[in-house]
Amino acid sequence: MTNPWLEIPLTDYESHMALPAIAQAQMLADGLVTALQRFTPDTVAIVGCAGGNGFDRIPASTRRVVGVDINPDYIAAASTRYGAHISGLELHVADIQAGPLPFEPVELLYAALVFEYVSLPTALRHLAQACQPGGHLISVLQLPAEQLHAVSPSPYRSLQTLPPLMRLVPPDELAASATLHGFTQEAEYTTMLDSGKAFATQVFRRTSG
Ligand SMILES: C[S@@+](CC[C@H](N)C(=O)[O-])C[C@H]1O[C@@H](n2cnc3c(N)ncnc32)[C@H](O)[C@@H]1O
Repeated sequence: MTNPWLEIPLTDYESHMALPAIAQAQMLADGLVTALQRFTPDTVAIVGCAGGNGFDRIPASTRRVVGVDINPDYIAAASTRYGAHISGLELHVADIQAGPLPFEPVELLYAALVFEYVSLPTALRHLAQACQPGGHLISVLQLPAEQLHAVSPSPYRSLQTLPPLMRLVPPDELAASATLHGFTQEAEYTTMLDSGKAFATQVFRRTSG
């Protein structure tokens, strides 16, 4: 089966996420900015970066910015948008489940709404290899909400191909798998949007492995 993410036009994805009733694009970009302000890393990788949501808010002090996504059209769009504006930008088309990630380890990995679509042990093994010792992994997971669709209905019908691939991951399960791959959880907090959807942000530090 083709991964549905390869078939969803970026304009559909971004328009869906920006709808006022969904409002997730802003929340995910805010999460990236908060992580950069908290850890002030020299090097950061945004895992499942789509077209570069939040890249416009990355400070110039971040020496190396890596964007990774499975969809080559998304990476091409990120390159067009930010290639000339972010010095030290590296963009990679890669499946985080397929093998070691094609970039040198970074201090901070930001993986927002991507663990819902992958095998946790495989992805975490590759992300651990891509994280410097003592570096951090910040994840954002969508939490289950009774009465709400996992993928909100919208005019962008292509997004409705995602549910068969999507699995809402309990934060405890992510923490347990991350621990097995050398990460220690340092913090966890919940963000609730007006839509009623809630999201867990977890902060992990690579302490071994
Ligand atoms: C729900 S979106 C989140 C996008 C982004 N974090 C944001 O702020 O909008 C999930 C993203 O992960 C990417 N993705 C899904 N599976 C992937 C995989 N196995 N490897 C790399 N990227 C993947 C998708 O193409 C998509 O861009």
